[in-house]
Amino acid sequence: MAVPQGIAGVFDRAADTYDEVGVPWFRPIALGLAEELAVAAGERVLDIGCGRGALLAPLAEAAGSTGYVLGIDLAPRMVRLTAEDFRDVPQVEVRVADAVAPGLPASSFDVVGASLVLFFLPDPVGAVTAWAELLVAGGRLGVATFGPQDERWREVDALFTPYLPAQLLDARTSGQRGPFASDEGVEGLLLDGGFFDVRTAHRDVEAVFRDADHLVEFSWSHGQRVMWEAVPETERGGVRERMVELARGYGDGAGGFSFTQRVRYTVGRRA
Ligand SMILES: C[S@@+](CC[C@H](N)C(=O)[O-])C[C@H]1O[C@@H](n2cnc3c(N)ncnc32)[C@H](O)[C@@H]1O
Repeated sequence: MAVPQGIAGVFDRAADTYDEVGVPWFRPIALGLAEELAVAAGERVLDIGCGRGALLAPLAEAAGSTGYVLGIDLAPRMVRLTAEDFRDVPQVEVRVADAVAPGLPASSFDVVGASLVLFFLPDPVGAVTAWAELLVAGGRLGVATFGPQDERWREVDALFTPYLPAQLLDARTSGQRGPFASDEGVEGLLLDGGFFDVRTAHRDVEAVFRDADHLVEFSWSHGQRVMWEAVPETERGGVRERMVELARGYGDGAGGFSFTQRVRYTVGRRA
């Protein structure tokens, strides 16, 4: 299958290192979402934008052998590697499909989850409305997005601001503007998409780095790769140097440091 364009292409190129560079990050974030969704044994669950399976794993454990968990992602390499990782877990299936038009039967899931995905989609309300159709009446949707960020992390991210196209600045995954800038904003997306009993929970997740180079490696291994790729190749060395300089200033003497990120979990029920 051809490598997709846009954000899914970025994740395709990141797939081999995604969640594999020694910074527990996507799994602790996804675990919080799995806890909010409280999947019961035997339920049918859809993980949208499953990536390397951070959310699939706890969902599969909760659904158990009598359940069914389908992971979909638009990046074929993510899907291939994740399908390999879960080949011995019979209740899990992983497929290439678009979050916006998954092509799945209506009312075929009890639970839908999407961890760190909704803010990448051009029409979040349209996506949430489509996801509601996939749920049975009373079925649960949960999405994880980013809340306020560690000031130092914001400082590092700001190195990329001059290079970012408008749509990335608008829908920034750190949610500095638009509906992703507040709990009410994301709750509004679910309410507009046809959900009720919408609520928000939070968890602070810490990313721990060995040293400045580890931060650079981490930043290439996930969605932030999109920011690196926006920097012209001839200028990447300069951005890297500035990142390393900033990170050295955060060091604990031995070179290590950590950033904290508040994660927002927004959950609702289909009418
Ligand atoms: C930040 S990653 C999160 C992955 C995983 N949920 C996790 O928590 O580690 C975003 C994922 O969404 C996928 N993605 C982006 N746009 C998509 C779309 N339109 N349809 C399906 N997947 C999409 C990317 O390929 C990537 O794997």
